[in-house]
Amino acid sequence: AREAFGARNIVFVGLMGAGKSVIGKMVATALELPFVDSDAEIERVSQMTIAELFDLYGETEFRALEARVIERLLKSGPRVLSTGGGAFINEKSRALIKDEAVSIWLKADLDVLWERVKKRDTRPLLKTAEPEQTLKTLMEKRYPIYAEADITINSRNVRKEVIVEETIAAL
Ligand code: S3P
Repeated sequence: AREAFGARNIVFVGLMGAGKSVIGKMVATALELPFVDSDAEIERVSQMTIAELFDLYGETEFRALEARVIERLLKSGPRVLSTGGGAFINEKSRALIKDEAVSIWLKADLDVLWERVKKRDTRPLLKTAEPEQTLKTLMEKRYPIYAEADITINSRNVRKEVIVEETIAAL
């Protein structure tokens, strides 16, 4: 499959809990490409957690930093990159991803996403009175935009290897 798409970056987009990091890492291993998670890279360069960055600088500044990190990673590729759920929603980051990568939307149903994210409270956007409702609202707002990705993969609750195989077959 690696030869089939040449030396392009592969970027995973989609909501929190869709499995971008886990599936991204497995796809990278299978294709023998380096893997980077943009949230982890942002935390590494800023020496702060995503939650601290949101608290200190707000979402707008976070999105600007995220776009700079994504740009640097894509221009020094090819690699497999998993992005934070809001990256593809940001115009600048989306344009970069569309230009410099094959984009894959890991699409999942609300109940699947909620099951996966509810245990963790590290996501600043879900620190609301009704996080499940917040997730639903984000879904409704963002799904039409994620749909602009080149490839859509249904990230349902099957073995991860199945999702990885479907992704590689779709490249
Ligand atoms: C966000 C998703 C998070 C992180 C930040 C904002 C979003 O990444 O970038 O909390 O806007 O959906 P994950 O999708 O990896 O949880």
